[in-house]
Amino acid sequence: MNILTAFADASNVYGSEENRERQLREFRNGASSDTTQSKEDFDEGAYFILGRLRTGKENPNLLPTVAQVEEELGDRIEFMGLFLAGDDRVNEMPGLAVMHTLWVREHNRVADQMREHRPEWSDEKIFQETRRIVIAEWQNVLYGEYLPIILGPGTMQDYELDLGAPDEYSEYNPRVNATISHAFATAAYRFGHTLINGVVKLMKSLRQVGSYKVRDNFFDSSQVSAASDQLSAWNEGTCSKIFC
Ligand code: HEM
Repeated sequence: MNILTAFADASNVYGSEENRERQLREFRNGASSDTTQSKEDFDEGAYFILGRLRTGKENPNLLPTVAQVEEELGDRIEFMGLFLAGDDRVNEMPGLAVMHTLWVREHNRVADQMREHRPEWSDEKIFQETRRIVIAEWQNVLYGEYLPIILGPGTMQDYELDLGAPDEYSEYNPRVNATISHAFATAAYRFGHTLINGVVKLMKSLRQVGSYKVRDNFFDSSQVSAASDQLSAWNEGTCSKIFC
């Protein structure tokens, strides 16, 4: 049984089900999704939130907490750990929580820019167009940066996985079967576990500023909450294991 979609569709950011997406979205000032704003409203800054994802109530630099969303929506959410995100594993270790945070921030950064350029667009329109851009960014990281390191240039070419020239047009092909085999999901792709170091460094500008043990931090997001203004150190540290 699968919990997530097999598509590279940034479901870690948006969820794999409509219900999770509803819980994660801010909607228009927390209300309905299909309203538009007038030019005057926009000029007056009346509607500040359009097309955005929910962030922390107490600290908007962080993800929303499960308790916060439960309170705001009156939902009962079965979830392990502090933060709510598209993927249930968000709280499994701090590095993962930080990555989820980064992508939610990216969504909101793009949504805010889009709102400025297209003030007449509805919450729904801004959300979906932003989601499209963020998914494309995600796919670019996967196919442009991650897979070439994991598979090497030869395999990328053999299986026609490269992104091609930046201006090369690519289109969604609904005839491609995107499902993955159980053997790959439950066995082969777990090779990723061999990439995980027991101690993850915290780095700033390539200098170590701290470290944490993975084994002491499973489902403990307290350090992420405490260091919300320094999440880049957590990201750099996680990346330094793989690339340095
Ligand atoms: C700190 C990092 C990580 C931890 C603690 C972790 C932990 C886990 C745990 C507890 C499971 C479920 C075990 C089970 O059901 O037997 C799992 C499953 C899995 N992990 Fe990880 N993991 C980590 C990173 C990674 C990475 C980097 C990759 C791949 C690049 C990866 C790929 C997988 C896959 C493919 C599965 C099976 C998923 C499924 O059954 O659908 N993991 N991991």
